[in-house]
Amino acid sequence: RVPVPALLQRPADAIVRPQAAAHPRIPLPCDLFAPERRNSRGVEFGARTALDQLLTDVKAAAADPKPIADATPNQANAAVAGARTGFAAWSRTPAGTRAAALEQAAYLLESRSARFIALLQREGGKTLDDALSELREAADFCRYYAAQGRKLFGSETAMPGPTGESNALAMRGRGVFVAISPWNFPLAIFLGQVTAALMAGNSVVAKPAEQTPRIAREAVALLHEAGIPKSALHLVTGDGRIGAVLTAHPDIAGIVFTGSTEVARSINRTLAAKDGPIVPLIAETGGINAMIADATALPEQVADDVVTSAFRSAGQRCSALRLLFVQEDVADRMIEMIAGAARELKIGDPSDVATHVGPVIDLEAKQRLEAHIARMKTEARLHFAGPAPEGCFVAPHIFELKEAGQLTEEVFGPILHVVRYRAENLERVLQAIERTGYGLTLGVHSRIDDSIEAIIDRVQVGNIYVNRNMIGAVVGVQPFGGNGLSGTGPKAGGPHYLARFATEQTVTINT
Ligand code: SER
Repeated sequence: RVPVPALLQRPADAIVRPQAAAHPRIPLPCDLFAPERRNSRGVEFGARTALDQLLTDVKAAAADPKPIADATPNQANAAVAGARTGFAAWSRTPAGTRAAALEQAAYLLESRSARFIALLQREGGKTLDDALSELREAADFCRYYAAQGRKLFGSETAMPGPTGESNALAMRGRGVFVAISPWNFPLAIFLGQVTAALMAGNSVVAKPAEQTPRIAREAVALLHEAGIPKSALHLVTGDGRIGAVLTAHPDIAGIVFTGSTEVARSINRTLAAKDGPIVPLIAETGGINAMIADATALPEQVADDVVTSAFRSAGQRCSALRLLFVQEDVADRMIEMIAGAARELKIGDPSDVATHVGPVIDLEAKQRLEAHIARMKTEARLHFAGPAPEGCFVAPHIFELKEAGQLTEEVFGPILHVVRYRAENLERVLQAIERTGYGLTLGVHSRIDDSIEAIIDRVQVGNIYVNRNMIGAVVGVQPFGGNGLSGTGPKAGGPHYLARFATEQTVTINT
């Protein structure tokens, strides 16, 4: 009798399918506010008592997190070695058990929302509205990948074959995954990467951005508490130098990275130069994201959506609007309305609920943005400059360019560039978008279905938003990620994401 490998003996998703009741979805404070109390620039808080309670809780939870030292190269190497050991047991842990740990993590996140909101505000400079939606996204990632993982990893797929032969295809973890995450979503993207890699059966060494290590430390502690073994998940803090130690390590089996295109390229070079197994890179980078508003668009809606897309989160989203193309016939009026809407924004302390635009992440970012503003003042027409308080703040600005080519790189802050176009030159607009080389988000405002369809058909952009704002992709609803210089895919929060973290194994048995 031919011995049957354990792989084929394992019943479909045999272990622990937790009852939904064991992992209730706790409403976050943001869920308590009815949709009609929200507008696209933020939450209009009508439910005063819920808000007051939330603010009290956040204040109480705001104790400064302890400082955290950068890891040394030796510590980074030890983390990879530890994760290698941890992989053996974690990769054999049934998918149902792995999923249950992620669901428990979502539950813990929601139960500790005040603490994480406080951390997001203190370390990440997030406004209350941004912190709430980030927390929602983080919990959604945990639950979505748990649900997807049960389907993908719960059982092998029987393949057809001739009589006397059985064939099965299984998805398994690859080994040690390095997860390098950005400061602009220090909780949601950090947890999205880590939970996807873990759900696929990998062990993980997570390297958060050097600006936001404390949020990452508390998120890792929460995952350990939720049931992820310490040996399967390791945290390594530090800047790009420690990231380079990890990506060059001979024992890693995959990298997931969100950040700049430049760093993604340098990781690619490191991987290409390395001996040993060929290591895949999943990269999500930035974009010079455009919106096209034609003469049929509703001006009030355009103004509202442009301001949200360009200035919310101080423009520090990879999805944010950078380049607005407005049809000449309506441009003067449209720009005036956008500037009017921008004038309403309150810039300042992110812990003040009235604030729409908080600080930029650090002084280096501020200086880079100010240098760009200074250049634009000589090369473009200034339509609007908001006020900015002292400190790490950059005022929202609106500049009109003569041509899109004047914007040659992603400007990661609250600076909007507007270009006029004539209706007969729409094709040139699309070519200009194509020439950026990026392909992350695109907004279209129009009431002409044929124009909308033609644009969608023509551009290679990952996420297209029609007649609404173009930020805030929802997990499991708007799978997110771009093409070209914007990333490798697959889309975060989408049904094909987890598969890219895994490897496949086919077993054929002659019975
Ligand atoms: N996923 C975020 C958004 O859609 C950007 O990273 O805004």
